[in-house]
Amino acid sequence: MTASAASGFLSQTTAIAREAGQLLLPFFQRRIGFEYKGDVDLVTEADRASEKLIVSRLRDTWPEHDIIGEEGTRDTHGGDFRWYVDPLDGTTNFAHGYPVFCVSMGLEYQGRLVLGIIYDPTRDELFAAEKGSGATLNAKPIHVSTTSTIAESILGTGFPSFKRHKNPNIHFYHQITLRSHGIRRAGSAALDLANVASGRYDGFWEFNLNPWDTAAGVLLVEEAGGIVTRFDGTPFNIDSRETIASNTLIHAELLENFREIFAGRNLEELPSIADFTAHRGL
Ligand code: IPD
Ligand code: CA
Ligand code: CA
Repeated sequence: MTASAASGFLSQTTAIAREAGQLLLPFFQRRIGFEYKGDVDLVTEADRASEKLIVSRLRDTWPEHDIIGEEGTRDTHGGDFRWYVDPLDGTTNFAHGYPVFCVSMGLEYQGRLVLGIIYDPTRDELFAAEKGSGATLNAKPIHVSTTSTIAESILGTGFPSFKRHKNPNIHFYHQITLRSHGIRRAGSAALDLANVASGRYDGFWEFNLNPWDTAAGVLLVEEAGGIVTRFDGTPFNIDSRETIASNTLIHAELLENFREIFAGRNLEELPSIADFTAHRGL
């Protein structure tokens, strides 16, 4: 079987993602409570119900496929196909009533991404990509943006909910904010990647994402004409702890900016709070 043979899976996967997204909506409207998995890593009844539904549908449809789900599913028997399921990406938003979240399902065949589906139930937007067949939003082809400089770009990033005090991303956020049209921190890495694929963002980066956050979105970006690498430009793989995605055109410039920031060169200084306070003139 070749990778493209997974293309027969698109309509069933789409139906599963839509069903899971519709399951999330009443929980969202009710503003259900949350628990802590650790640090500020939240989980809700809705995350678990969505994973249960998706895993049950996948098992019924393709019993031989491996499944890794964020909320604990680990069906791994060394099969050719492996699903990465984020049953609710954007849980913090969801738990606070902020309508930016989605269902994300990515499929690997022999270790290579072949199918990606991201469904945003609040906007009824279904992003889909099949290896070699392009990417779509609600069945219409999508393409990355044509912006060619960081100075004219809008980008997305995110901050981890785990060990956040160890994360250096605020420096990257600061520097790239001052060099671009701005950075969005929307709270759903899967939708961030879908936003790059559909040209709403020119780029996106984040430290320490997990395979269920990135699997579907990375294929979407690539199939929409974009590129995803590690921060040093080496190829992204599903276990990469570094994700930087762009429309391709700004990638070299982005990587150069990351090199400079990591090296501490040509940085914009943060204004001193003490100086600012002394001259506030209230
Ligand atoms: C989180 C979101 C968020 C990102 C975090 C992820 P979750 O996933 O994608 O945007 O910044 O790193 O953990 O926990 O809502 O599925
Ligand atoms: Ca996630
Ligand atoms: Ca999740």
